[in-house]
Amino acid sequence: MTQPALLQEVTPGFAVDIRAGLTKAPQKELPSKYLYDEVGSALFEVITALPEYGVTRSEERLLARHATDIVAQLSPDVTVAELGSGSGRKTRRILEALCKKHPTSYCPIEISRTALQLCRRELGDIERISIVGYEKDYLAGLAEVSEKRPDGEQLLVLFLGSTIGNFGRLAATRFLRDIRMMLKPGDALLLGTDLDKPVPTLVAAYDDPIGVTAAFNLNLLARINRELGGDFPLDAFEHVARFNPEVRSIEMHLRAKRRVTAHVAAARLTVTLEEGETIWTESSHKYRAEEVGPIAGDAGFACAHQWIERDWGFAESLLVAR
Ligand code: AVI
Repeated sequence: MTQPALLQEVTPGFAVDIRAGLTKAPQKELPSKYLYDEVGSALFEVITALPEYGVTRSEERLLARHATDIVAQLSPDVTVAELGSGSGRKTRRILEALCKKHPTSYCPIEISRTALQLCRRELGDIERISIVGYEKDYLAGLAEVSEKRPDGEQLLVLFLGSTIGNFGRLAATRFLRDIRMMLKPGDALLLGTDLDKPVPTLVAAYDDPIGVTAAFNLNLLARINRELGGDFPLDAFEHVARFNPEVRSIEMHLRAKRRVTAHVAAARLTVTLEEGETIWTESSHKYRAEEVGPIAGDAGFACAHQWIERDWGFAESLLVAR
């Protein structure tokens, strides 16, 4: 087993969360946020280019078509905060439309410094933009941006890419409520949601034939091996994507192909999986466009506008804090 002394930099809370998730019964699980180390984030970028994964291209098309219209719904003086900036490619359309009207401050909020650097590189050339990155978790970063914005300026929060789908349904409403708590009446949230679609389309999007999503999923065990001194034999696991009709989510699991016992030194953990047993690593909930308004209402927002891309099935909703 790799010794802790040789390990890479350890993410705070990682060992505790891994221990909690892998000792859960009957379903072992790992938090999906740990999919995104440097390798995982790079693999996710590749996923967004796969023909089977239409989510990102659909949202890009939608924002390219409607950015001017979206910006027309906002007041002229806007500070923009983005939760999880990613590569910044989608955001460019909105920021260009805003900066055309008025110099604009853009505050990406990301726990990854590398992602913030990439985002600055991607968007720094937009005329009349000023970028201030926040290396924080979403809510802590948002609280700071909201407090620091100049008096009288509207705050626009971007939560794109259907990342809300990675929360459970109740947790999603709770998270929207937490966002609302950081805002003033009249502030806005632009929320991207991937829409319901036929199950075979969804399964192909999360289990692509060249195995990029499988590698993205398996990297979570590889990351535990690298960072926490684990000894998971990667060849003993396979990627599974399956639709859960009760909650309308596509779930990713890692299934043991044989009985496996593994150790994770930094979590002081020995875990055994029986043949066929799975570790649940992510859920991606799909929405109906008409569901967003009531959910937003429960969280203290009114749905002011909605734009829908029908080729793939994606909605962008502009929610205004009441
Ligand atoms: C980041 N998130 C919205 C993606 C999704 O579609 O749920 C993550 C992903 N997992 C597998 N493929 C993409």
